Amino acid sequence: MLIDTYGRVATDLRVSLTDRCNLRCTYCMPEEGLQWLAKPDLLSDDEIVRLIDIAVTSLGIEEVRFTGGEPLLRPGLVGIVERIAGLASRPRMSLTTNGIGLKRTAAALKAAGLDRVNVSLDTLRPDVFKALTRRDRHKDVIEGLRAAHDAGLTPVKVNTVLMPGLNDDEAPDLLAWAVEHGYELRFIEQMPLDAQHGWKREGMVTAADILASLRTRFELTPEGTRERGSAPAERWIVDGGPHRVGVIASVTRPFCAACDRTRLTADGQIRTCLFATEETDLRAALRSGAPDEEIARVWRLAMWGKKAGSGLDDPSFLQPERPMSAIGG
Ligand code: GTP
Ligand code: 5AD
Ligand code: SF4
Repeated sequence: MLIDTYGRVATDLRVSLTDRCNLRCTYCMPEEGLQWLAKPDLLSDDEIVRLIDIAVTSLGIEEVRFTGGEPLLRPGLVGIVERIAGLASRPRMSLTTNGIGLKRTAAALKAAGLDRVNVSLDTLRPDVFKALTRRDRHKDVIEGLRAAHDAGLTPVKVNTVLMPGLNDDEAPDLLAWAVEHGYELRFIEQMPLDAQHGWKREGMVTAADILASLRTRFELTPEGTRERGSAPAERWIVDGGPHRVGVIASVTRPFCAACDRTRLTADGQIRTCLFATEETDLRAALRSGAPDEEIARVWRLAMWGKKAGSGLDDPSFLQPERPMSAIGG
């Protein structure tokens, strides 16, 4: 079991498969990209499968989410999913992606054993998409979403970050569109995890702003419970149901007290929190030939250092050095 000093138990593992991305969202990374991890520093497919095996067999992990950067850029993804699906204690498996390339891979991922996907899409307008991601790929994302839905990678969730003056007028349109297509839409408050360190609280669209905007067109009733105890999204029933809309208010309504996550970066570091300032080097243990029990011990010990919360409200808050794209969301 991965328990921390506050009694929280991690059952959800987020695995970043690459720090690279084929988009350049302005709130995430600069136009020229970042200094990518070198190939030898990345965990190999075998190493990733071994660590996940240890996590589900010895540490109580029940759900594995693959993230990036953009996880579809990892050549071995389908093979990794297939091997995890073959484990004796098979975890639930999901993927968080920008959707580009899903059209090509959705069916194979489903066949390999992936359960569901979350796709990032911030706008319905191709010109705004291009300004925001610095790439003209709106159509690819829309097609990817449809392919995921048709392949049965459901429920398909759509993640949207709103930014003032760019897409913050689109919330009701996005919800109408998501309801029409059968996607579950979630709005995410922007967090200080951008590589450029440009985040400002005043420049953020809050959960309250988003709900007010949605209520101009929809009747929203609180679902009452979170979709599961520790899920980041709070959900509202749309116009009496059955559709739901979620808001992930990491900044204004933090959910750290119920956090059930542990993270593995593409270069094999354990992070106990998105905002952790320290990491534990699991790759070194792995490559020094440590047996499974030793790896499990290092992981347990790392979780013991998990902080109570993100620290976002502390006057001394410092943004972690690793940006979102290298942590894995
Ligand atoms: P499901 O609800 O299980 O589908 O997944 P999810 O919402 O946890 O995953 P997803 O990868 O779609 O993440 C959506 C947003 O939630 C992203 O902006 C993540 O950075 C954010 N998020 C995920 N885990 C955490 C966390 O532990 N803390 C905080 N503050 N935000 C998180
Ligand atoms: N704050 C909040 N969400 C972010 N994402 C990327 N950067 C940030 C940020 N700074 C979103 C992406 C994706 C999800 C994994 O995280 O848009 O939907
Ligand atoms: Fe890529 Fe996601 Fe960052 Fe956009 S937010 S550049 S899709 S990693």
